[in-house]
Amino acid sequence: MEKINTLIAKMTIEEKAALCIGASAWTTASIDRLGIPSIFVADGPHGVRRVKDENDIAEESLPATCFPTAACAAATWNTDLVFRMGQAMAEEAHAQEVDILLGPGVNIKRTPLGGRNFEYYSEDPFLSGKMAVSLIKGIQSRGVGTSLKHYAANNQEFQRHVINAKIDERTLREIYLRAFEIAVKEAKPWTVMCAYNKVNGEYCSEHHRLLQEILKQEWGFEGLVVSDWGAVHDRVKSLKGGLDLEMPGPQERRLKAVVNAVNAGEVAPGILDESVRRILEIVFKSKEAAGADSFDENSHHQLAREIAAEGIVLLKNENILPLKAGAKIAVIGNSAKEPNYQGGGSSHINPTRVDIPLDDIIKHSGKNKVTFAQGYTNQDIFDQALIDEAVGAAAFADAALLFLALPPSKESEGYDREDLNLTLQQTGLIEAVSAIQPETVVILNSGSAVTVAPWIDKVKALLQGWMMGQAGAGAIADILFGEINPSGKMAETFPVKLEDTPSYINYPGEGKEVCYGEGLYVGYRYYDAKKIHTQFPFGFGLSYTTFEYSNLQVPETFTDINGLTVLVDVTNTGAIPGKEIVQVYVHDHEASLKRPVKELKGFAKVSLEAGETKTVSIELNFRSFAYYHPDYKSWVTEDGDFDILVGASSEDIRLKAATNMTSSLKLPCILDRESTLREWITDPRGYAVLQPMLLEMQARIQEMLGGETSIGMDSLGMIIDMPLESILMFQQELLPMPADQLVDDFLQKAHAMGA
Ligand code: GLC
Repeated sequence: MEKINTLIAKMTIEEKAALCIGASAWTTASIDRLGIPSIFVADGPHGVRRVKDENDIAEESLPATCFPTAACAAATWNTDLVFRMGQAMAEEAHAQEVDILLGPGVNIKRTPLGGRNFEYYSEDPFLSGKMAVSLIKGIQSRGVGTSLKHYAANNQEFQRHVINAKIDERTLREIYLRAFEIAVKEAKPWTVMCAYNKVNGEYCSEHHRLLQEILKQEWGFEGLVVSDWGAVHDRVKSLKGGLDLEMPGPQERRLKAVVNAVNAGEVAPGILDESVRRILEIVFKSKEAAGADSFDENSHHQLAREIAAEGIVLLKNENILPLKAGAKIAVIGNSAKEPNYQGGGSSHINPTRVDIPLDDIIKHSGKNKVTFAQGYTNQDIFDQALIDEAVGAAAFADAALLFLALPPSKESEGYDREDLNLTLQQTGLIEAVSAIQPETVVILNSGSAVTVAPWIDKVKALLQGWMMGQAGAGAIADILFGEINPSGKMAETFPVKLEDTPSYINYPGEGKEVCYGEGLYVGYRYYDAKKIHTQFPFGFGLSYTTFEYSNLQVPETFTDINGLTVLVDVTNTGAIPGKEIVQVYVHDHEASLKRPVKELKGFAKVSLEAGETKTVSIELNFRSFAYYHPDYKSWVTEDGDFDILVGASSEDIRLKAATNMTSSLKLPCILDRESTLREWITDPRGYAVLQPMLLEMQARIQEMLGGETSIGMDSLGMIIDMPLESILMFQQELLPMPADQLVDDFLQKAHAMGA
């Protein structure tokens, strides 16, 4: 700290401004005379994309392990595994002289159409946050920095550089900021990357409330805020808003603008110094750790395979998997030869090697047992001949494996999908192959949900393989042939159809504005509330074995500050070892504001031998029960009954236990001149003040309405949600003083009672 303060004191304004803008596409400025080195940053969330030329945005990067994408990693629900993925990525970053990796991305999957959904974890902020914590801790444990992105509400690619996300405060806090908050508080990422878009009218790159007030002051973020590449519109405004480092650089004109603004007194020197301090702290921290100048490609490839195997989700299996040894197999689909193992855009890795599904299946079955047909190409064109060829292959096999992946033109960073469908060629292929070969298995390598309703009943099994990384093919083969028992579960809902999705009406917005009209109700929160049947629910995934849950133990009462421990026994009731993901949801019986039916607040993945039982213990804390109350501008808990729901998926609740919470909060009185009668009587202090006149007031209203509901209205029903002052105005002649003065008098009494 002292060293940094000394350096800042020696720096000129020009040097300070230069440090706050990239020196190239991937490096920060060095100041040789003061011994300030430059650092190198590189994408991305599932591998190192280190270009040789620091000024080149998109040249082919150095070979690195392409780990499973976030959608796949999240489906492992395995925080230890994701931690290890981070460690391996950091080893590769060191070897390639990268100081900060630009990831993880934790934006919530508000719509399955999101082109970048492959690069994000979940529709649920708790799962997203916990996955990010694991990856950040893993990477930073090896002395390489991370960049938690894209802060905030970058939930669509459509117009991502200019779209204004209109989000109410509670939704913003509970859904779209929550994963960032968890990661910042629990993992302390070295940097946070601001998003391109606006939130409630302001660009994230200059959003003082998001960057300064919430991220830095309220959450205590001590690192630096870096812009997404090209996200800054006004460098002076962004500096004042709390954006420390603009990327990419250099930006000579903006540097001058900052210098002029400081010299003109438009920007307080302390604001510039604060950004410089944050940058210098990260620069010197990144030089502390040393790493090897090479990495073990094989062990990282095996780790990528292990992660993929745990992220692949078995969605359907009508006794066809694992495949029987010696079976004749028709492998069909372009992605069996050209695997769709990663997505397009900034996260795109130059892999050290790529496993090919067809090769791995041949390894298991033997060359003479396997035939191949392309089925479709990487273009979105219809070709009956390819279908006919595939049918021919399927007809003479014992089973057909259909490898399906959307063409890159359909899903990538930079653009969203138009629909959730596979291509016409692919659905035609499924229809034709399954008609001739009832023993058909579909392996999907999509980045996010696709509609399967048109054909799911025609196939015997379905594996969601995601964009599973360079070693994913081997993992898929391991699962198909039973070498590995699948254990992945959905981190995002697959809806029956696009029209069922929460954001269907509001997405993608118009006039460069998108309203998050569904509010808190994203993903399973929405499907629960609307009681909409889903194709594959959040948290769902099959295994080759079965599990039973028993002996749920939850204290009958608890306090919010002490939280509680959930204990539950899980037994592997099948004949082979397996891993089960136990999910804990919380249901609030009653709250002052509406709440989702249930919310994920804990999970654990447990490995069990056949017949084995283990007790799973999951801790719930204050925030497991709290919700954000915009009027109090804080997270609140309220006395009352809760259900603790333990499930194998969000729609498969195995055990439930009631418990009662006592809140430690003494919330301030927030009654004001606009408070309604309901709000007055709900607040104990308001009720105490009003109680003496309540009955009289209601009697007068009834009288005023000409006795019992003369105009067909229930008197209480009519006034309960009126402001007290308005109610009193109607009886002004009966009051001892003007209605507004009487309300002020009441307010003074209520507020005087304190919390
Ligand atoms: C891209 C992405 C961001 C990436 C950055 C650098 O536009 O939005 O995730 O880290 O630019 O490539």
